[in-house]
Amino acid sequence: MSESNPILAASAHSTEAYQQAIAQTSQAVVQWLQQPEMYQGKTVAELRERIRLDFNPQGLGNQAAIERAIEYFLKDSLSVHHPQCVAHLHCPSLVVSQAAEVLINATNQSMDSWDQSPSATIIEMKLIEWLRSQVGYQAGDAGVFTSGGTQSNLMGLMLARDAFFARQGHSVQQDGLIGDLRKIKVFCSENAHFSVQKNMALLGLGYQSVTLVKTDRFARMNVNDLADKLAQAQANGEQVLAIVATAGTTDAGAIDPLRAIAALAAEYQVWLHVDAAWGGALLLSEKYRDYLDGIELVDSITLDFHKQFFQTISCGAFLLKEARHYELMRYQAAYLNSEFDEAQGVPNLVSKSLQTTRRFDALKLWMGLEALGQKQYAAIIDHGVTLAQQVAQYVSEQPALELVMQPQLASVLFRHRPAQLATAGDAAVALHNQKIGDVLLESGRANVGVTEFAGVTCLKLTLLNPTVTLEDIKVLLALVERTAQEILAA
Ligand SMILES: Cc1ncc(COP(=O)(O)O)c(C=O)c1O
Repeated sequence: MSESNPILAASAHSTEAYQQAIAQTSQAVVQWLQQPEMYQGKTVAELRERIRLDFNPQGLGNQAAIERAIEYFLKDSLSVHHPQCVAHLHCPSLVVSQAAEVLINATNQSMDSWDQSPSATIIEMKLIEWLRSQVGYQAGDAGVFTSGGTQSNLMGLMLARDAFFARQGHSVQQDGLIGDLRKIKVFCSENAHFSVQKNMALLGLGYQSVTLVKTDRFARMNVNDLADKLAQAQANGEQVLAIVATAGTTDAGAIDPLRAIAALAAEYQVWLHVDAAWGGALLLSEKYRDYLDGIELVDSITLDFHKQFFQTISCGAFLLKEARHYELMRYQAAYLNSEFDEAQGVPNLVSKSLQTTRRFDALKLWMGLEALGQKQYAAIIDHGVTLAQQVAQYVSEQPALELVMQPQLASVLFRHRPAQLATAGDAAVALHNQKIGDVLLESGRANVGVTEFAGVTCLKLTLLNPTVTLEDIKVLLALVERTAQEILAA
């Protein structure tokens, strides 16, 4: 039977129910953290069969609803903190991030207007100022927290598009897109994130607007090819509205040469956005900060804190070099950010965001920085980068493994190619590696990434977890070897 008042409020009944619910949930989490398996190994069909939405019209009450969530969700969740969970840019989270979530959720502040989030608005603005100072931007607060990399990239591309049309005296915001749209191009490397294509489709210019620039053998944008393509575009009468550089490509972790790209962007007067969803973590690094050399020159930046900053999903940011470009997306809603309010300097962050109602995710980064201090934060970020170098060395010493690419951030790309497959064609080796990834996940023992790099299907270890050691990865690679031999024997 459901409780009489299900709302979080000041009454004794409500606060007691709240404390019980949180205690029951956190105890279950502690038990789940101790499960030895990375995943219980259920298939898609098994989970479809098991999870049924047979809602009880009377309601079950909090306790029973939590028990059902533990049974049907928690126990069959993937353990992202497990040392053998290394497939994606999907991080284990800071303990203090969990505490922040409790505060974010209980207070339920909404970041669209000051009167819905007074202290939260100021904390977010000050964090944006701080992030700008880490980048090397001028003092200011142009930027906002976002749901993640995809949304931040959308903001960068949208403002680039609208600034491009504004230079021709046209407001996209008012009048929509005009002209010969097929002549408008965006350049990014062939290893850039697919959200560039998706966002250009959303922005009305389609996948066709994205020109892929070649990469070098380290998966970084080839600046000579960029220069050639910019010159060619000019000769063809095409117009380039943005270059998107990547600092940390999703698989190889490659960082494009930002300074050289910025020089070309300046020469052609093209907006330069950098997708630093992954590599942005190096802003805090002690050892590797110089990998981001030139980032202060770009027009806008994507940062993601739910990757190598170890925050819970979702937590990202968008930084804009020149605040004046925010005018391109200004909308005055009487009930949120009225002219009257703004004339008095009331900060309503809705004017900086694509979202209206928005979570106070900035609290997680703030509390993370407070709890760890910059030194410890830097150490846990650097750990992954250094570990990837050690793992790559180890992989290259194993006869059955082939290192596909030297690591640059915290990922290692490799494939299993034992003597039995020495003469097998690429397709057979690709299928063999795909099967290794699939069998490992089905067994619940490990989640190793399977991806394609320069046409080669390979396995990927994304080594974000700062508690994972080289020894742990040797154990995982031994498991890969055993699994591979079982597949070959079958
Ligand atoms: C380089 C890069 N950019 C953007 C994204 C998208 O970020 P999000 O998943 O936070 O939207 C990713 C995701 O992995 C990424 O690797």
